[in-house]
This record gives sequence, structure tokens and C-alpha cells, in this order.
Amino acid sequence: MHGRQTDAVQHGVSLILHHGCGARCDTKAPTVQQVQVGFGEPPKFAVEVKNNCPMCPVIDIHVKCGNFSQAVVDPRQFKVLSYDDCIVNGGLPLPPLQKLSFNYSHSKFLLTLKDWHFQCE
Ligand SMILES: *[C@@H]1O[C@H](CO)[C@@H](O)[C@H](O)[C@H]1NC(C)=O
Ligand SMILES: *[C@@H]1O[C@H](CO)[C@@H](O)[C@H](O)[C@H]1NC(C)=O
Repeated sequence: MHGRQTDAVQHGVSLILHHGCGARCDTKAPTVQQVQVGFGEPPKFAVEVKNNCPMCPVIDIHVKCGNFSQAVVDPRQFKVLSYDDCIVNGGLPLPPLQKLSFNYSHSKFLLTLKDWHFQCE
């Protein structure tokens, strides 16, 4: 078994800017994780974006994605907007505690959470 790698990123600082849901979602930033699942050439990565808030849908999840190639993923799941700016699920709501998962086969792209909004009421 080769090494497995996980990138889990939470931006504590950004939380201050996203407390539209009051205490309900304050400490519940979405997470973006990726794990290598294929070790061929090119390697394969499984990406999982999760809404960690149990109360509110999250919308407009932007991810820093470097030079991510649109050719390796369905844009409805992960759309490249510009360099280092990709949007999850077309910006549409990810319900409370829901995950969106997709795989890509390419050399690794670093993915980190950039921006998001909670949608309450
Ligand atoms: C992204 O791709 C462009 C065009 O291929 C290239 O010029 C640039 O160096 C790449 N940037 C990074 C950080 O890989
Ligand atoms: C991603 O790839 C893994 C391993 O090949 C597979 O088990 C999983 O179902 C795939 N996930 C998606 C969302 O296609």
C-alpha cells in the first residue's frame, strides 16, 4: 500500500466573515479533502467537499484550485472559473451535512477552501 495523503483545510480567519447563520454555523466551515486513490500514471484523486453545518445549506463554495484542468471533471460538480478559482456544484446549495464527491485523474492539484456562504431561512 502506498502512502495516502489527505488535505483538509479550514480557514479559521474566514469564519469571522461568514457568521450570517449566527451561532448555528460559526465553527462549521465546509471542508475540502482529497485522497489519492489511484497510483498509476496519471494518479487518481478522490475529492470530497462537505457542508459541516447541521442547520444550513451552504452555497457558492469557491476553492483555490491552481491550474485545475476542466477537462478532468464535470463542470456541474467542479467548475474552473479562472486561475485558482473553482466553484463547487455550480454554486448551488449543498444541504446540511451533505457531501459532494468526484474523482480526477491528473497530477495532483492543490485544493483549499477559498470562500462560501451559508443560506439560512
Ligand atoms: C498555469 O498554467 C499556465 C498556462 O499553462 C502557466 O503559464 C502557469 O505557469 C501555470 N501556473 C502554475 C502555478 O502552475
Ligand atoms: C472514485 O474512485 C474510487 C476508487 O476507484 C471509487 O471507489 C469511487 O467510487 C470513485 N468515486 C466517485 C465519486 O466516482
